[in-house]
Amino acid sequence: MGEKAKLSFSDKEYELDLTVGTENEKALNIHELRNHTGLVTLDESFANTAACRSAITYLDGERGILRYRGYPIEELATRSRFVEVAYLLMYGDLPTPKQLNSFSGHLNLSSLIHEDMRHFFLAFPNYAHPMGLLTTMVASLATFYPVQEDLSEEEEKQVISNLVSQVRTIAAFSYKKFVGEPVVYPSHKLRFVENFLNMMFSSPVKNYQQDPDIVKAIDTFLILHADHEQNCSTSTVRLVGSSLSNVYAVISAGIAALWGRRHGGANQEVISMLTRILDSGDDGGRFIEDAKNKRARLMGFGHRIYKTFDPRAKILKELCHKLLIKPGMTNPMFDIALRLEDKALHDDYFLSRNLYPNVDFYSGLILKAANIPYDMFTVLFAIGRTPGWLAHWREMRHSENYRIARPRQIYVGPALRDYIPMDKRPAMSGTTIVRRSPVSERISNSMLEKTSDIDDNDTTRFA
Ligand code: CMC
Repeated sequence: MGEKAKLSFSDKEYELDLTVGTENEKALNIHELRNHTGLVTLDESFANTAACRSAITYLDGERGILRYRGYPIEELATRSRFVEVAYLLMYGDLPTPKQLNSFSGHLNLSSLIHEDMRHFFLAFPNYAHPMGLLTTMVASLATFYPVQEDLSEEEEKQVISNLVSQVRTIAAFSYKKFVGEPVVYPSHKLRFVENFLNMMFSSPVKNYQQDPDIVKAIDTFLILHADHEQNCSTSTVRLVGSSLSNVYAVISAGIAALWGRRHGGANQEVISMLTRILDSGDDGGRFIEDAKNKRARLMGFGHRIYKTFDPRAKILKELCHKLLIKPGMTNPMFDIALRLEDKALHDDYFLSRNLYPNVDFYSGLILKAANIPYDMFTVLFAIGRTPGWLAHWREMRHSENYRIARPRQIYVGPALRDYIPMDKRPAMSGTTIVRRSPVSERISNSMLEKTSDIDDNDTTRFA
C-alpha cells in the first residue's frame, strides 16, 4: 500500500492517494476528489498543480537543478549539440552516430518551406514583429502540409522534422523581410546553427563568415532553451494538443504563449532595460530602487519555480564572460548587468522573495554579441523551444490517459437574474480604453482614429 493523505471535510474523512515521482516528489492525486467529496481544487495560475506526468525534463527549483531525460543541463550544454539534444528530448536517449545522422538528414531535407509560402511574407507590414510572423507562418504550415489526426510513426517523424527545421527557416526569412533583403535558402552543407546564421546574414553581395565562438554560443543558447517542463507555452501546447488540433496550429499556439514579456519576451525586455539604465547614467542603484517600489520590474529576474539561481543563467553568465570580455576590452552592458545582479543579490527585497537571475538575464547579451537583432530574440527562444514543445506533444499523444484538458472554475459572477429589455437598460458612459505600448505606438494611430470615429449612440452598428 502506498502512502496516503487524509482530508477531513464536513465531518467526514477521506483518503487520497499520493503519486510519487522519480526524485521522490509527491503529489496529492485528486482524480476522484469531486466524485467522493463534491469538492474541486482552486489553484489560480497553477502554482501548486502538476498537470501531467512527464518523463522529459526534471526541474528542482529549490536546488537549482535542471536535467533533460536525466542528463544535467551543464553537461549537455558543454558536451552536446542542439540537434543531439533535440533528439534526446524527443526520443528519450542520446542518439547513436547513425541515429543522429538520420535525424540531421531529415532536418536538412525538411528545411525548405513550400515556395508559395514566400509570398505570404510580402503581405506583412514592414514593422511586423517577427514573433507575429512566426506565429502566423507556423500555423499556415498546416495548410501546406496537411496531416491526418492519426499520424503513423513515419508521418509523426516528418512533422517533427518539418517543425524543428522550418521554424528556423521561417525565422530567418522573417528577418530578411524585415531588412528588405532577398531570402537565403537553407543549405544541406551546413549544420543547424551555421545554416541559420547563413540564412540570416548572407546576401547576394556578402558571404557570411562563420565565427566558431558565436556558433557555439548560439548552439548553447538553443540547448538551454530546448525544454523547461510545464512552463506557460508548453502547457499551452499540451492544452491545445489535447483537443487533437492540428500539430502546426498546436506549435503556433505555443509560440503565441511564448511571446509575452513574462515568458520568452523577457530576453528582449532585458536589453531594453539595460539600454535605458546605461543611457540614463544610472549605475543600477536607481533602477533597483524603482523595482523595489514597483515602479519597474527587474527583467530577467525571478521565476515561478526557481527559488535560487536558474542553472541556465549561470551557464550563460559564464558564456558572456568568455564571449564579451576580450583582453583590454570592456562591455558596458554586461557590466551594468553584473552590477544589477550584485545589487539585487545583496538586497533584502530580492532575497526575501527568492528573486535570482533567470535564463533571460544574460541570454540577450549573447544574442546581441552574435548581431541577432533585438526583435528576433524571442524568435531564437522559439527555435530552441520547438523540440521541447514537440517532445511534450508526442509524449501526450502516446500516453494512456490522454484526454482533452478541461479545467473547472469557481463561478463568482451574478446569481440568476431577470433579463432587461434594451429600452429599460440604464444609460452607460461609453469610454474606450486603448492601451499603447512603445512598440505599438507608431502603428496604432490609424486604429485610434478609427476608434474615436465610432459614434457610441449609433446603434445600427450592432446589426
Ligand atoms: N522585479 C521586481 N520584483 C519582482 C520581480 C522582478 N523581476 N519578479 C517578482 N517580483 C516580486 C513581485 O512584485 C511580488 O512582490 P510582492 O510579494 O511584494 O507582491 C513577488 O516578487 C512575487 O512575484 P510574482 O509576480 O507573484 O511571481 P510569479 O511567480 O507570478 O512570476 C515571473 C514569475 C517570472 C513572471 C516574475 O518573476 C517576473 O515578472 N520576472 C520578470 C520577467 C522575466 O524575467 N520573465 C522570464 C521568466 S524565465 C523564462 C521563461 O520562463 O520564459
